[in-house]
Amino acid sequence: MSRELLVTGGAGFIGSNFVHHLVARTDARVTVLDKLTYAGNPASLAGMPEDRVRLAQGDIADAALVEELVAPMTGEDDAIVHYAAESHNDNSLSDPSPFLQTNLIGTYTLLEAARRHGTRLHHISTDEVYGDLELDDPERFTEATPYNPSSPYSSTKAGSDLLVRAWVRSFGVRATISNCSNNYGPRQHVEKFIPRQITNVIDGVRPRLYGAGLNVRDWIHADDHSSAVLTILERGALGETYLIGADGEQNNKQVVEMILRLMGEDPDAYDHVVDRPGHDLRYAIDPTRMRTELGWEPAYRDFESGLAATIDWYRGNEAWWRPQKAATEAKYATTGH
Ligand code: NAD
Ligand code: TYD
Repeated sequence: MSRELLVTGGAGFIGSNFVHHLVARTDARVTVLDKLTYAGNPASLAGMPEDRVRLAQGDIADAALVEELVAPMTGEDDAIVHYAAESHNDNSLSDPSPFLQTNLIGTYTLLEAARRHGTRLHHISTDEVYGDLELDDPERFTEATPYNPSSPYSSTKAGSDLLVRAWVRSFGVRATISNCSNNYGPRQHVEKFIPRQITNVIDGVRPRLYGAGLNVRDWIHADDHSSAVLTILERGALGETYLIGADGEQNNKQVVEMILRLMGEDPDAYDHVVDRPGHDLRYAIDPTRMRTELGWEPAYRDFESGLAATIDWYRGNEAWWRPQKAATEAKYATTGH
């Protein structure tokens, strides 16, 4: 019998990418549990076969609903793959409350169900739990880097990771954790850096760079994140944490200039705007363990060509992003971003 997976947050950017990846490469059957917040979009699951993917709209913090979905998952290989989160730093600075509810109470609710039923759980997290690095720091984040989160978003993700670790140690929950760097690719909400700038340029609006734009992010294509998570599900050791990255460091100024050039515009046609409070300077992942222990390799090795394909996707899929654009920009206007 094929494996059953409960993918939380599967109507969001990275969770939906994982569902597409699963359908293309495995015979798994998937239930997506998604609250369909402003960030969830059922259109991101369009084209998925109905006999393999079903969408259950609901909250991961709803213990009765989670129990109903997890109890029937009795196969040894069945698993909860937990992507659902409030995911945007800028939103967490405006209102932290949903971040505490979803990222902490929601993760706790899933862990309790996994504990009751002995269900495997893979928890999706971020490199932002480690805080930030200096620009010239020769070390990158590793599995041993101490946690030092900066924002309400990253601190609630850090808290959720610690809950998972505690449930592994105290209750023997069969869990793994992965901490990935910044993702880019199709179906990312227009509030995030890369799609915001691409869609601004499509609209004839100048891209907006926070502060001097020297902050560094370590970009990975969402397809590579998905292949790494599937690798961990298949070959990862229970109780372990894996860092996922693809050697993709770029500063924000370089990324904006690349977007403008790839879209046929003057690379200097952007504006500097007020910086994000507490803005992390640099993230960088050392992915050695994924490569040496699990034999995983990213497929996208050239950021510029991955970015060009992403630009093409936003040009060709305006119906997907247009409904969110005006409200997103109106919200940014209230903070000067
Ligand atoms: P996203 O905001 O695009 O999607 C989040 C999804 O979770 C949405 O579909 C939303 O409706 C759903 N959701 C939110 N609250 C929920 C709740 N209470 N119950 C059920 N569903 C709920 O986020 P994303 O960028 O796809 O990130 C997914 C995961 O990956 C998050 O855990 C995030 O921390 C992690 N991550 C993201 C990145 C990145 O660059 N975006 C990098 C590393 C890790
Ligand atoms: P973001 O996509 O919000 O991801 P994260 O904060 O999780 O890294 O932002 C990526 C980087 O881009 C971050 O350094 C903030 C910066 N940024 C801008 O310069 N302009 C923007 O309009 C946005 C949304 C982000």
